Amino acid sequence: MKLGILSQDINLYSTSRLYETAKKRGHDTQVVSYLRCYMNIAKANPRIFFRGDELSFDSVIPRIAATWTFYGAAVVRQFELMGSLSANSSASISRSRDKLRALQLIGNSGVEMPVTGYVHFSRDIEAVLNTVGEPPFVIKLLEGTQGRGVVLTETMEAAISAIETMKNIDANILIQEFIKEADGEDIRAIVVGDKVVASMKRKAKPGEFRSNVHLGGSVLNYEMTDEEKECGIDVAEKIIEFLEYEIQNRDLSKPIDI
Ligand SMILES: Nc1ncnc2c1ncn2[C@@H]1O[C@H](COP(=O)(O)OP(=O)(O)OP(=O)(O)O)[C@@H](O)[C@H]1O
Ligand SMILES: [Mg+2]
Repeated sequence: MKLGILSQDINLYSTSRLYETAKKRGHDTQVVSYLRCYMNIAKANPRIFFRGDELSFDSVIPRIAATWTFYGAAVVRQFELMGSLSANSSASISRSRDKLRALQLIGNSGVEMPVTGYVHFSRDIEAVLNTVGEPPFVIKLLEGTQGRGVVLTETMEAAISAIETMKNIDANILIQEFIKEADGEDIRAIVVGDKVVASMKRKAKPGEFRSNVHLGGSVLNYEMTDEEKECGIDVAEKIIEFLEYEIQNRDLSKPIDI
């Protein structure tokens, strides 16, 4: 098979492992910097180029960085339109990067979650904080990942000034109640179908509330309890139900969301 790995850095651990394994399995594999892909969008003839060469793959594996979601998803969509099979669809990449949408769906699924506020105008900051509850508050950049752009504010005043600062640089932010009892720990579960196939616990380094490994957090093997497993499976099921509903009720006069 002709396989393209869409990645900005062939030396990244994940990219090099995918590349080595694909080669070992006999696939004609190329790592392509997706930010250097340029597209030609025309009637019934989608094309994509990389440093002057026209590209064509049977299949692509997107490794799109969170900071380049928009451009990266457009490149993946172009490959999809050209008939390549993508390990993750462009639509699912865009959806998975939308924290606000994910939280709206999780809230709708009925599982416990931190109360979350979202606001546009600076003059509504105090009002939205009051709907979230009492300080401390966790403020998050909507586009953040690996724990960057997640801050804890102890007082109402600190929360307001942090949000105003972020709003001044036109950042989109979420405000959340602080889950103190988490104590810097969280559990990650990967659900496939109706089964938890992998789980781990992450623990923040001392003095830190964010458990992200990129911020020095540690990772432990963790066997989930039945109750925890049920929670993970339940939320995955409800989100899939919602996506199916969304697809069935698609307005056919609008362009199809591939
Ligand atoms: N409301 C909260 N209360 C307590 N701790 C929190 C809360 N929100 C986040 N945290 C801690 O901060 C960490 C980072 O937050 P979050 O997962 O929302 O952002 P991210 O890791 O930067 O983004 P993403 O998970 O979308 O890639 C979490 O793993 C958790 O340990
Ligand atoms: Mg996270």
